Amino acid sequence: MTKYIGILTAGGDSPGLNAAIRAVGKTALGHYDMEVIGFQKGFRGLMENNTMRLDAEALSGILTVGGTILGTSRDKPHRMPVGGKIQDMTDTIVENYHNHNLDALVCLGGNGTQKNAMRLMRKGLNIVTLPKTIDNDVAMTDVSFGFDTALGIATEATDRLHSTAHSHHRIVVVEIMGHRVGWLALGAGIAGGADVVLIPEIPYDVEEVAETIRRRRRRGKNFSIVAVAEGAMSIADARDMESARKQRKSAEKKEEKKKAKAKLADLEARHAGNTLRLARQLEELTRLEARMTILGHLQRGGTPSAADRLLATQLGTAAVDLIDKGVYGVMVAVRGGVVEPVPLDEVAGKLKTVPLDHPWLESLNRVGTL
Ligand code: F6P
Repeated sequence: MTKYIGILTAGGDSPGLNAAIRAVGKTALGHYDMEVIGFQKGFRGLMENNTMRLDAEALSGILTVGGTILGTSRDKPHRMPVGGKIQDMTDTIVENYHNHNLDALVCLGGNGTQKNAMRLMRKGLNIVTLPKTIDNDVAMTDVSFGFDTALGIATEATDRLHSTAHSHHRIVVVEIMGHRVGWLALGAGIAGGADVVLIPEIPYDVEEVAETIRRRRRRGKNFSIVAVAEGAMSIADARDMESARKQRKSAEKKEEKKKAKAKLADLEARHAGNTLRLARQLEELTRLEARMTILGHLQRGGTPSAADRLLATQLGTAAVDLIDKGVYGVMVAVRGGVVEPVPLDEVAGKLKTVPLDHPWLESLNRVGTL
């Protein structure tokens, strides 16, 4: 019997999504004679029945294209803005899945998507997910597609900042994406030759950063590149954030919860200006001029690297092999170089941070970077 599979991309876009859609589609159509239907703009498309035919023509020529031909959104099935209100649309989604006679739904996404997909799995849908994110923070997989491309872009940017920092005898603070983890900043900081790398996993002391820069100047290096992950924080800020998060979690009364939520929102808003604040502090402490560069969405745009095309293709084809065998409720991961399914409930809700004993951190220390 022909199997019908649905596919959607959710969360922030990531290089390699189209390569994965193509791999799922081509394997399903060409190898297994399955039917494939795409849902546009993430889980919203499944809720609104906003579909896209994924035939051979639609799948052709997209391997090297950035973004996602299906479009994406951060909409969650259980908290979706509909008609000006946030509503739980899970039942509609489940109903539409059955109305399309789907045998399986392939969800391509990061941490949020893994959680949303697990919720749908618990409602009885046959789910297979793929890990995509430039942040590389999805648990149970060595790597997610999108990371390698973003790493290349952030590395090149860090590298290019050297000549201008050197010419003007300046500090350049470069902000690198990564949400709450430091994989991208750490990787690009090492590969791009940054002098200081700051990641959320290791809160920093600004005086120590300034001293590293002063020490470089005493050695005749009148410039410094500071690679800072967007989630990196000073020791004091990290302490405040941690205690606000704990307060929000433990708050029982409605009023307490509201207060704790507002405090957290305040701290998050303050954090948004962290990189500029850091550049100003370093300028004051070192008496060197400082500039800030925020790489932002440049890191997510454009054509995927060869490694991401390869990974997305491998994971996409493996997803359909699993559907053929009737293996559901899993994310297709790569572990120790081997592509294998891992149970979705071991992935969802977990954040893969940089372990403090990671070899990249060891290497960073060995080459004398703070
Ligand atoms: O998760 C990918 C990511 O690019 C993060 O690094 C970043 O914090 C976030 O998405 C930005 O989200 P948006 O595109 O919604 O601004």
